[in-house]
Amino acid sequence: MHLLIPAAGSGRRMGSQRNKLLLTLLLKPLLSWTLAAAEASQHITWIGIMGQRSDFPDFEAIIRDLCPKKPIELIEGGVTRQESVYNGLQALPPDADRVLIHDGARCLATAELFDRAAEALLSCPGLIVAVPVKDTIKVVDEHRIVRETPERRNLWAAQTPQGFEVKLLKQCHQQGREKGWEVTDDAALFEKCGLPVQIVEGEETNLKVTTPVDLALAEFILRQRTDKSK
Ligand code: CTP
Ligand code: MG
Repeated sequence: MHLLIPAAGSGRRMGSQRNKLLLTLLLKPLLSWTLAAAEASQHITWIGIMGQRSDFPDFEAIIRDLCPKKPIELIEGGVTRQESVYNGLQALPPDADRVLIHDGARCLATAELFDRAAEALLSCPGLIVAVPVKDTIKVVDEHRIVRETPERRNLWAAQTPQGFEVKLLKQCHQQGREKGWEVTDDAALFEKCGLPVQIVEGEETNLKVTTPVDLALAEFILRQRTDKSK
């Protein structure tokens, strides 16, 4: 199965000078943790990373250090995550019929999670990994007045990997461009096109490193994992 990794962001909310995926997390760049899990997954056979061209030399160094057995290609990203994924889809090899998409910033996802998603994708056209939300979620208007409290048991927090039939996802992205839809994940495009998206159980630790607090949490979790495996 093919994997696309959006990694072309700038990490504005992290407040650092460079792409947050190049920040160091337990002695390694953040992105190398993400790649190591993808490399360890049994189902993934090809990896494409969407990045800003100026980050390519750093990405190339990360790939060299990893010594991967799988082919890894660098693809130029876009101005938005949506555009980066679009570019990635165009760069997939012609034999790719199903694709997993996984944010570079989710560096705690395990190889088992990739494999669980890949296996589920053999029997459905679209899926996301997700976890039940722990907080009560409020829908709020522009004056910050609460308008609605959806029932928590129906709410799941979407993570990545997300997986799709390539042909269908390409069509959804094309339609999104034509209609000017702006979305923050690929499943949203699938939904807007009326296609079903299956939930696969995610991992509570699979956080998206977004702010400095997330970086500290990620370090804590990775440290615990390495201590346990000693
Ligand atoms: N991403 C991308 N192309 C973009 C923007 C984001 O490939 N134009 C990637 C990021 O590199 C990240 C993932 O999409 O791996 C999720 O995005 P996010 O967490 O929002 O990262 P950034 O956009 O870098 O962060 P911020 O929004 O705080 O600037
Ligand atoms: Mg962003």
